[in-house]
Amino acid sequence: MRDYANVFHDAAAAARYDKEVFAAGGWAAGVDRRQRSRLRRWVREAFGDARPTQHDFACGSGRSLAMFEGLTASAHGYDTSVTMLSRARARLPAAEFHLVEDGVPATPAATGTPALVTLFRFLLNAPPEGRAAALDFAVRALPHRASGFVLVENHGPSGSLRALGRRRHRGERWFAELSHRDVGNLLERHGFTVIDRFGFGVAPAGAYRHGWSRPLARALDTATRLVPHAAVSTDVVYVARRS
Ligand SMILES: C[S@@+](CC[C@H](N)C(=O)[O-])C[C@H]1O[C@@H](n2cnc3c(N)ncnc32)[C@H](O)[C@@H]1O
Repeated sequence: MRDYANVFHDAAAAARYDKEVFAAGGWAAGVDRRQRSRLRRWVREAFGDARPTQHDFACGSGRSLAMFEGLTASAHGYDTSVTMLSRARARLPAAEFHLVEDGVPATPAATGTPALVTLFRFLLNAPPEGRAAALDFAVRALPHRASGFVLVENHGPSGSLRALGRRRHRGERWFAELSHRDVGNLLERHGFTVIDRFGFGVAPAGAYRHGWSRPLARALDTATRLVPHAAVSTDVVYVARRS
């Protein structure tokens, strides 16, 4: 668990995450924009007038807390990296942040409202014990079926066009894949049932790296907003609740 967490302690790596991974015009920035528009609508529909408290596990620099800003009663971010947390604090002064100590289970802040647990860009590359810690955290934040929902992002679904790069990236540290079944099984083992899922585009990240293919990729991903495509999407968010 420590190896994966350590990557994000470094200030340069944390800055790179925001500036390079989410660079304007790139794949991740496009996914983030589409998630924001669809998932904000979903939160309004799912919680109605009861504003939830957001618990963002592995919050990093605060991307998914920023996504739901203004829709929540309060917002809490939990992370093992002091560096990422300080970036998140600067971005979201009204949110509360909690440092997760190595080997100590994170405890969700006590609140009286329904809860929205978010787990974005974490499961894919986290080791098994990190995944278990995240889902155990979700169980504590959502003790009953009526407590709320967990949103889980898979930014490397195996059944998508991303698989075209499988051979080229074989053996690379950051090229992992997770199937829909893997995510469903993991949630199920922790007492959650997937009740919905959303796709956020079909073009692989590589298509955004070249001047000639980027406009095509962007047009394709914009068009996919019109049709459900989670089964083949390169980025999926699952909605789950306690079984
Ligand atoms: C790829 S970033 C994702 C950040 C954010 N959720 C997003 O979608 O932009 C992964 C984050 O997980 C954090 N992390 C790694 N291991 C962790 C653990 N065991 N518990 C909590 N956070 C962890 C890292 O410090 C890093 O900020």
